[in-house]
This record gives sequence, structure tokens and C-alpha cells, in this order.
Amino acid sequence: MMRHTMNQASAAFAMMLALCTGSAFAQTATSAAANAAPPTAAELAAGKKIFTTKAAPACALCHTLKDADSSGDIGPVLDELKPDAARVEKAVRGGIGVMPSFKGLLSEDEIRTVAKYVSAVAGK
Ligand code: HEC
Repeated sequence: MMRHTMNQASAAFAMMLALCTGSAFAQTATSAAANAAPPTAAELAAGKKIFTTKAAPACALCHTLKDADSSGDIGPVLDELKPDAARVEKAVRGGIGVMPSFKGLLSEDEIRTVAKYVSAVAGK
């Protein structure tokens, strides 16, 4: 039963990706610094705050992420995508598809922090 549901969810997700014009599959990890150290508890708390409220529009509005209690369904379910920090940073900095760029809206520090947070908690 569980397995069936998962398969449906990933099929829907694959379809959504296929419909998107973004280059989700053409990406390679770029930022080596992103994975330098595991996030501290303070970084996780700060990242969660950015994810749920500080970013405008908030990541939570568009993304499902269990740890952040969010169920947005405009963007991919981050618990299924499980992006590494470099991939999150790239999306947040540059925007992807209909997701806006947060460059200038979030500081470099905040971008790194939210990326660390998402990559650490996605799928958990
Ligand atoms: C307005 C809705 C919206 C907001 C706000 C938003 N996203 Fe997204 N996000 C999307 C959509 C849609 C995609 C898929 C884009 C595509 O592949 O074409 C996406 C993709 C992503 C991806 C996957 C990138 C990849 O390489 O495939 C990550 C990671 C991500 N978002 C993280 C975030 C984070 C972190 C925030 C907050 C700083 C955020 N998003 C805010 C809509 C949003």
C-alpha cells in the first residue's frame, strides 16, 4: 500500500519535472564550500526560519518539507528530491523555472544556511 502511494507520487513528480522548462537534470554540483561542515543546531534553527518565514515568498509556500511542516505543492517535494546543499544554493541564488531568485533578498549567509538546512533535513 505504502509502496503503491510512493510510486504514484514519484510518477506525478516526474511528470511535473518533465513539464517544467527548467534544466533540473542538467545540473551538477558547483559549490564545494556548501558541504564543508555539518550544520550546527543553531544553523538548522536559522535555516528553518528562513525556509518558513524569512524568505519572501517563503520556500514553505511552494515546497513540501516535513521538518518545516510545510505542504506547498508548486515546487518539487524536497523530501523526495533530497537535494544536496550545492543544488539548493544554486536554485535559491539563480532561481529555476517559476521559482524566483532570492539573490539580494537573502544574504549570502542566509542562502548558505537555508541550503544547509534543506539538505540536512530533506527526507528525514
Ligand atoms: C513561488 C514558488 C517557489 C518558492 C517561493 C520557492 N520555490 Fe523552490 N522551486 C519552485 C519550483 C516550481 C521549482 C521547480 C523548478 C523547475 O525545475 O523548473 C523549485 C525548485 C527548487 C529546488 C530544486 C532545484 C533543482 O535543482 O531541481 C530546490 C532545492 C528549491 N526549489 C528550494 C527552494 C528554497 C530553499 C526556497 C526558499 C528560499 C524556494 N525553493 C522557494 C518553486 C518555489
